[in-house]
Amino acid sequence: MSASPPNRRPLIAGNWKMYKTGAEAAAYIEQLKLLLPSNLEADVALAPSFTALESALMAAGDSPILIAAQNVFWEDEGAYTGEVSVPMLNGLGVEWVIIGHSERRQYFGETDETVNRRVIAALAGGLNPIVCIGETLEQREANQTFQVLTAQLKEGLAEVDNRAAQSLTIAYEPIWAIGTGRTATTEIAQEAHRVIRDELERIFNKELANYIRILYGGSVKPENAAALLAQPDIDGALVGGASLKPDVFYGIINF
Ligand code: 13P
Repeated sequence: MSASPPNRRPLIAGNWKMYKTGAEAAAYIEQLKLLLPSNLEADVALAPSFTALESALMAAGDSPILIAAQNVFWEDEGAYTGEVSVPMLNGLGVEWVIIGHSERRQYFGETDETVNRRVIAALAGGLNPIVCIGETLEQREANQTFQVLTAQLKEGLAEVDNRAAQSLTIAYEPIWAIGTGRTATTEIAQEAHRVIRDELERIFNKELANYIRILYGGSVKPENAAALLAQPDIDGALVGGASLKPDVFYGIINF
């Protein structure tokens, strides 16, 4: 198991992206529940589409599986066709939400500013945000990675107070490693996670920086999870493709 301090129990989260109907989500979760041991050593979360959240929550029942939304809007209600608000997630009983995924940034115009508005609203409504950051290949090759990550954190977490920050999780997802089969080496991932933790210390304080979990995402598979999670600043994984089948995802949970 991971070398993380006890307050940073590993979190293995599956981001299903635009896969699975409600019925498929429920069937998956029934299978995963059978695989999970009673002495589970990691926190486990799944992020279905909005349309599958309710059946996922019902299937998860009182199992340890946490259910996350993949996005949330910052206004409580109003004329915002197609959006879903914090009170709507609260009403379902959803307690976790992914914010600022690179696919939202790339295809749907998400910026650090809109990420920040979503984070502030989510925290105010008692949700636990998993805030995603990460550099493009061009930025990495131009040696801008650390600058990009610190700017994404500074702007994305602006005005978050120290008390609310306890509910944060950060996910480092280098864009060049998402869905490409090209995982960051453990050294590259650990180095970025260290930079992120140092920036969290500057934004909040040392105690919070040591408390907040930082997940790695980008082609995580059962074969590479243990090495990544053994790094001192990697506290879990945000898994796309390898979370779509319960037995494969369990291979990561049981790293
Ligand atoms: P893959 O695991 O498919 O590379 O996706 C990572 C990701 O984007 C998780 O949010």
